[in-house]
Amino acid sequence: MRNLPLWSDLCNRNCQARLVVLSDEQTTTYLGVRVMRRKLAAGNWKMNGTAAALPELQSLATSYPDASVDVLICPPATLLHRAAEAVKDTGITVGGQDCHAAESGAHTGDVSALMLVDAGASAVILGHSERREDHGEQNEDVCAKARSAMDAGLKAIICVGESLEQREAANTLDIIGGQMSGSIPDQSTGENLVVAYEPIWAIGTGKVPTLDEIGEVHDFIRARLERRFGEGVGRSVRLLYGGSVKPGNAAEIFAVSNVDGALVGGASLKAKDFSGIIDALQKA
Ligand code: 13P
Repeated sequence: MRNLPLWSDLCNRNCQARLVVLSDEQTTTYLGVRVMRRKLAAGNWKMNGTAAALPELQSLATSYPDASVDVLICPPATLLHRAAEAVKDTGITVGGQDCHAAESGAHTGDVSALMLVDAGASAVILGHSERREDHGEQNEDVCAKARSAMDAGLKAIICVGESLEQREAANTLDIIGGQMSGSIPDQSTGENLVVAYEPIWAIGTGKVPTLDEIGEVHDFIRARLERRFGEGVGRSVRLLYGGSVKPGNAAEIFAVSNVDGALVGGASLKAKDFSGIIDALQKA
């Protein structure tokens, strides 16, 4: 029984149980109920943006009063509260880019999950390859942060991805599998977990894996989630692709199986570019 999801897992805010017939791409059936994963366009501003960027965010928010997909912007921590105020009462939510595993304490320069919630965040990106590289974050660090984020009521967007060397050595799936086992906590559900596949070599480079390569990894991630958490939870977790997503390539990426949206860096900084990606996701 341990792996059986609660009804609330199936009918949470991300997964709408529908009686209408939807395409197989959009839905999955569990215990006789069709579950739809609500698509998600997430923008990671990284270490970019001051108060001057807030009008850009407001302009994005006014363009999407009623988006049919979730839209999330993760600005730097210094802007989080003001960004939350800027998108208040719109369809857009904001998130953090990292958090400490502890609730509070002597950790100079760090921000806790509770502090992100206090600033208005609904989600937090964890284990981004830039944090794994710049700050030496290991899978167990990411897992501890994700537990803390989930306990605080945040969605944890956990990033996984291989280097070019690992891909060329045909180790991609082993690397992704290891990162998933080590970084994703046992308490994960379709509500509190999003997994982002971001090949390191595709981030900010303009290089994108082939659609088959993206599909292979996303199908692998889905199968691993189903094996570990059971089909109900495994099928309700959203999987994002990240790495050089632009308005021009978004539609074809969103057509790949088990791609439920994108985690976007550079193209999320300009409302016009991010709008092109949101529009493609709404049509997918
Ligand atoms: P780019 O979209 O700039 O390649 O960045 C991807 C990314 O790292 C998002 O987290």
